[in-house]
Amino acid sequence: MQVEAIQRTYRRWAPVYDLAFGRITQGGRLLAAQHVNAQGGAVLEVGIGTGLALSYYSPKVQVTGIDLSSEMLRAAERRARTLGLRNVAGLYQMDARAIDLPEASFDHVAAMHIMSVVPEPERVLDEMVRLCRPGGSVLIANHFAGRAEGWRLAERLAAPLANLLGWHSDFPIDRVLGHAGLKLEEQRQVRPFGLMTFLRFRRLAA
Ligand SMILES: C[S@@+](CC[C@H](N)C(=O)[O-])C[C@H]1O[C@@H](n2cnc3c(N)ncnc32)[C@H](O)[C@@H]1O
Repeated sequence: MQVEAIQRTYRRWAPVYDLAFGRITQGGRLLAAQHVNAQGGAVLEVGIGTGLALSYYSPKVQVTGIDLSSEMLRAAERRARTLGLRNVAGLYQMDARAIDLPEASFDHVAAMHIMSVVPEPERVLDEMVRLCRPGGSVLIANHFAGRAEGWRLAERLAAPLANLLGWHSDFPIDRVLGHAGLKLEEQRQVRPFGLMTFLRFRRLAA
């Protein structure tokens, strides 16, 4: 999807996003937060959206988020304020392909349900690797084509509707595997629907 289409689509989704997608995408966010909480440190959420994962992080974890959509970010800010979260270090409007933050500044970098949305996922992955310290973790939760039993026909039918839906339903997993700076340590389908895949990588030393 192109930037204008993303901004238009998520302006529309922002008021109803939590209701429409909160539950179906919850499993990946929980797995990511569990891992981050167990390790501690600072996490960057790329494409944080309405901040649905914010309340899952331990108060000891420092959370930074970026997103392209000001409407989605405003919802995340509202959530942080309403819940009185003091561990949110910053929420910034930035493009995930060129994130204006210093390299190796996070222990964990997470991208949940965004890789099949962005125009150049390989560039986003490069940025995630750059921002993660060596030995830290890169976490991805996403729907990938052909991974979920019984959903292939729906994936094919939804594929031409990417600009309307806000993501590519036929996005192949290969596009986020095989990065030279990452070692895949965990891959699993996320319960309860099995629609999403959770990937956990270790950031290799340069
Ligand atoms: C499907 S939502 C996922 C939101 C959140 N991560 C979650 O799990 O609920 C995709 C998000 O990615 C954001 N996004 C899309 N392209 C982006 C880009 N190039 N840079 C930053 N954010 C982007 C959208 O604005 C939207 O908030």
